Amino acid sequence: MGKFLAGVVATFVVLIVGAYAFIAFGCMPANADGKPPIIERWMAHTSLRASIQREAPQGAVPVALTDANLTAGVKLYAANCAVCHGASDGEASNIAMGLYQHAPQLAKHDVTDDPEGVIYWKVKHGIRLTGMPAFSPTLSEEQIWQTVLFLKHMDSLPPAVDKVWKAVPSAKTVS
Ligand code: HEC
Repeated sequence: MGKFLAGVVATFVVLIVGAYAFIAFGCMPANADGKPPIIERWMAHTSLRASIQREAPQGAVPVALTDANLTAGVKLYAANCAVCHGASDGEASNIAMGLYQHAPQLAKHDVTDDPEGVIYWKVKHGIRLTGMPAFSPTLSEEQIWQTVLFLKHMDSLPPAVDKVWKAVPSAKTVS
C-alpha cells in the first residue's frame, strides 16, 4: 500500500513538473498566427456551447422592433463591431484577418438564424480564447439588445434603416 501511494505521488509530481517545464520553456505556443490544436478547439467550443445553453436568456427581446431601435443598433455596430466584423460589403480588415480566431464578416456569414438570447450572450460576455470582447463593461443592456436586434434582422431591414447600414464605411484596411 505504501509503495502504491508513493507511486501515485511520484506520478503526480512528474506530471506537474512536466507541465510546468512545457509552459516555462516556451513549448506551449503563445503566438496568434497559428492554428489552435484539436484539444484547445474542443475545450473552447464545448465550454462555449455549454455556457450559452446554461446562461443565454430565453424570453422575448426587451426592446421593440422599431426603426429607431434598429438604427441605434446599426450605429452601435459601426462604432464597436465593424472594425472586426465588417460593414455591408463584407470586406475584412487587417485586424479581423490577424485575430487568432478570424472574426466572421457578419454581412457574409450573418447570425440571423441564431436565437436572440445566444447573440446577446456573446455580445454581453465576449468569447474567451478569441478576440471577441465582452461589452458588459461598456454598453448598457438597452444598447446590447439594440445591437442584437440589428444583427437578427440584418437581412430584412426596413428601407430607411438599410440606408443607414449601407452607408457604414467599409472596414477593409487600405494597405
Ligand atoms: C476585436 C475584434 C472584435 C470586435 C471589436 C467584436 N468582435 Fe465579435 N467576434 C470576434 C471574433 C474573433 C469572433 C469569433 C469567435 C469564435 O471563433 O468563436 C467573434 C464572434 C462574434 C459573434 C458570433 C458569430 C457566429 O458566427 O456565431 C457575434 C454575434 C459577434 N461576434 C458580435 C459582435 C458585436 C455585436 C460586436 C460589437 C458590439 C463585436 N462582435 C465586436 C471579434 C470581435
